[in-house]
Amino acid sequence: MSVEQLIARDLSPAEPIVDWLDFDFDTRQVHAGEYPDLNTGLRVPPIALSAGYVFDSFDDQVDRFAGRSIDPIYSRQGNPTNSVAEERLASLEGGTVSVAVSSGQAAISSALFTLAQGGDHIVSTASIYGGTRILFGRSFKRFGIEVDYVWDADDDAEWERAIRPNTKAIYTETIPNPRNDVTDLRRIAAVAAKYHLPLVVDNTVGTPAIIRPFEHGANIVVHSTTKFLTGHGAAVGGAIVDGGTFDWEAAERAGRSFPLITAAPRPGLGSMLDRFGTGAYARAVREAVVNDIGPSLSPFNGFLLHQGMETLSLRMERHVDSSLAIAAWLEEQPEVTSVDYTGLPSNPLYDLAQRDYAGRTGSVFGVTVRGGIDGAREFVNGLRVFSRMTGIGDTRSMIIHPLSSTHATFAPEINERLGITPGLLRLSVGLESARDLITDLRAGLDRVR
Ligand SMILES: Cc1ncc(COP(=O)(O)O)c(C=O)c1O
Repeated sequence: MSVEQLIARDLSPAEPIVDWLDFDFDTRQVHAGEYPDLNTGLRVPPIALSAGYVFDSFDDQVDRFAGRSIDPIYSRQGNPTNSVAEERLASLEGGTVSVAVSSGQAAISSALFTLAQGGDHIVSTASIYGGTRILFGRSFKRFGIEVDYVWDADDDAEWERAIRPNTKAIYTETIPNPRNDVTDLRRIAAVAAKYHLPLVVDNTVGTPAIIRPFEHGANIVVHSTTKFLTGHGAAVGGAIVDGGTFDWEAAERAGRSFPLITAAPRPGLGSMLDRFGTGAYARAVREAVVNDIGPSLSPFNGFLLHQGMETLSLRMERHVDSSLAIAAWLEEQPEVTSVDYTGLPSNPLYDLAQRDYAGRTGSVFGVTVRGGIDGAREFVNGLRVFSRMTGIGDTRSMIIHPLSSTHATFAPEINERLGITPGLLRLSVGLESARDLITDLRAGLDRVR
C-alpha cells in the first residue's frame, strides 16, 4: 500500500462534541467538559503536562497527520486539560467548539487570521479595548490587513461606506471599557448578515453569565480568559468559540471567500467545512492558525481556567451587585463629574442595557473626577483597597488612568471622540465588600480639590 492509498482510506468524519446540553448554566459551568480519569478515578480533571501523544499504531499516526483523526499529535494543537476548559466555555457560550490559546490578544489574532489575510479588510466598532486598537493599527497593518472603524453602529450609511468587497469580518465587543458603552449586538448582526460577514464578538467583559452573543446573532466569540473566566488574576489566557451558525457557502456565493474553511487543504482531503461542519471554523483556527503560529495555552493555565469557570455565575453576580451600588454612590459624590455605567438610569444606553444585558453591565466602568489629570492623580494615590494596575476582571478591585496608559498612544482627536478625558479613571470592581470599596473610594475623593 502506498502512502497516498493509506491517507485516502475512508474514515467517518469527526463530529464536534458539546456535552451537558440539557442542563442549566450553573450545572454546566461545573461539569461541562469534564472527563473521568480512567486510570485513577480523579474527580478534578488533572493538569496533563505532556508535550506530545503516543500513536496507537502506525496507521493511527498516518490518520492524525492526514487530518482524518481529531486526536492531537502534539500539545501545540490541543491538550486534555485545555479541552475541559474549551468544552466548558463552548457549552456556556452556546457554541459548538472552542479553542483555548495563550492570551486574549492571541485569541483575537487567531480568530481574525483564520478569516482574513494580507490584502483583506475588517470593520470594527470604534469603542473597543485599547490593546485591540493597537493590535489592529500595528501588527494587522504590518501583515497587510486593514481595519476601519464605525463610530455610530446605528448609521447604515457609515456601515455602507466602511464595508468593501475584500472585507472579511465585523468585529465588536459586548461591554467595551472604559466607558461601559454596551453594544447593540442584534443591530450589528443584522448588518453582518446583510453583507455575508461573520460577526466576531469579544465577550471578555460581558462573560456568558451576563450575555451570550450567539443568542443575539454573533457567529464567533473571543475571550481574554485572563479576566473573569479564570477569575483570580493568576493566569493569562484566551479562547475562540465557534457559534457554528455562519453560512460559509452562502458567503462564498456572495463573493466573500474563506479559503481556510471552504477550500481543500491538500489533494484528497475535504475542506474543514466538509469534514467538521458546524465546528469547521474552530478546526481551522486550531489546525491552520494556532498550530502554525503557536500561541498554545499552557495546561497549567488551562487548569486554572476550567476551575475558575466553575464559579463564574456566582462571582459575576457579586461583581455586578457591587458595581451597581458603587456606581450609584459615585454619581452622588461632589468630586465626581460623571459615571459611565450603563446600568444606571441616568445613562443614555440604560434602555439597551436593560433589554439585552438585564441591566447588569459587568463591573468595569469609568468615573470622571473634578480637576482633570491632577484630580485623577490625587484620587488614585489616595486608594488602598483598589490596586493601581492594568487589568480587569479578577477578585481584586483595580484602577487605571486610561489617557496615560491604555490610550496613551492614540491621537488626541481619537481619544476625544472616544471620551477618554484627563479626569477619567477605569474601575474594575472586585469581590471585596462593597462597603469597604466605597470607604476606599471616599478616602481617594477626599484628596480631590
Ligand atoms: C476586552 C479585552 N479583550 C482582550 C484583551 C487582551 O487580553 P490579554 O491581556 O489576555 O491578552 C483585554 C485585556 O485587557 C480586554 O480587556
